[in-house]
Amino acid sequence: MKIFLPINLLFFLFIVTKGSLEYLRPCTRPSVSSQHHRSDADPQQVHISLVGEEHMRISWITKDRKVQSLVEYGTTAGKYDESAVGETTSYRYFLYRSGEIHHVKIGPLEPSTTYYYRCGGYGPEFSFRTPPSAFPVEFAVAGDLGQTGWTESTLAHVGARDYDVFLLPGDLSYADFLQPLWDSFGRLVEPYASTRPWMVTQGNHDKEAFPIIYPHGFMAYNARWRMPYQESGSTTNLYYSFDVVGTHIIMLGSYTDYNVNSDQYKWLQSDLSKVDRVRTPWIFVLFHTPWYNSNRAHRGEGERMRKAMERTLYEARVDVVFAGHVHAYERFTRIYDGKADHCGPVHVTIGDGGNREGLATRFKNPSPSISLYREPSFGHGRLRVVNSSHAYWSWHRNNDTESPVADDGTWLESLSSSAACNQILVPSKFPKDEL
Ligand SMILES: [Fe+2]
Repeated sequence: MKIFLPINLLFFLFIVTKGSLEYLRPCTRPSVSSQHHRSDADPQQVHISLVGEEHMRISWITKDRKVQSLVEYGTTAGKYDESAVGETTSYRYFLYRSGEIHHVKIGPLEPSTTYYYRCGGYGPEFSFRTPPSAFPVEFAVAGDLGQTGWTESTLAHVGARDYDVFLLPGDLSYADFLQPLWDSFGRLVEPYASTRPWMVTQGNHDKEAFPIIYPHGFMAYNARWRMPYQESGSTTNLYYSFDVVGTHIIMLGSYTDYNVNSDQYKWLQSDLSKVDRVRTPWIFVLFHTPWYNSNRAHRGEGERMRKAMERTLYEARVDVVFAGHVHAYERFTRIYDGKADHCGPVHVTIGDGGNREGLATRFKNPSPSISLYREPSFGHGRLRVVNSSHAYWSWHRNNDTESPVADDGTWLESLSSSAACNQILVPSKFPKDEL
């Protein structure tokens, strides 16, 4: 008894002290399955995406193949003054046949306006809000979502605070060949993806290539998550760009040829040469496999792409690069070619959406000097672009009941407003009187 009490006290003090210094990570959570409860003609898996600055694409799936690709919409609930028709697609993957996948582009739309809409003339009314026409604008960012209890937690935290656009750097459903899981993922994210535009790029779990039969992969991803690639001069849904409120956002494909003679590389060069840094002072780039990573998971996997494309992004003065793939959070300083460089992009790994594979818990020690914050926890990030020169980045760790700010972020200065960096930009991108 004399020994028992001090040991108990010491154990208690250890727990209290450790708890106050370090977040104790909860266990992984099981997968969730989102069932279809509506009629066959009703829309399911509704999600929206930006198509130019005045239009939105509404995407949904019906079991009933006769439902028209029609979206009725207006600014008053239940009253639809406008309508637009689009197109449908579907695909087969081994024995699976998808429902009718509808894509309808609507607009022109007013900025900062809530629109109410109905899909195919059936089912429930949905609503979304368009992004503003001027700063500030806020992005929510999370990759490697999957569909587990932690995915639900991440999405609940994303939705609990207002934002304008959701950015996803790859690995959406973790269907991994089991096509019905794309459907359950679509239903899981619908409450969020039907209310704010979801702009995504693809990851390795989205590829689902199979030798000879489906050699190129991304069949489900391309059919279901159509992004505005044609509008940005791209020939494939696997890389594209778009503008929103003073930001030019480029989505690249980590699993599409990126070498200097590739179509993706040429498209990137062309896309960057057209960026007007007066109109869009910020450039953000997203792709799946990180170029910089001090986690022990997936080390070096992004190196070939980095060698091919890093100089291009550097010379264009890209502000931030977001990647996923590693199931943890890590924020780096501004980097070029492995070293801190105040004219290079900030690199952020944010593959922490909540998928079933769990967290990548082991980091390399000691931490490299270019890595400023790293933590293997599920969560999401917030990028609030305040004006043409400043943005605030923060990372919010998931917790059972709340989403506290864990990496209490950093103010970023746009490189286009940095006197030290914008002088060596390609002249055609910056009118002289704006430098
Ligand atoms: Fe991945």
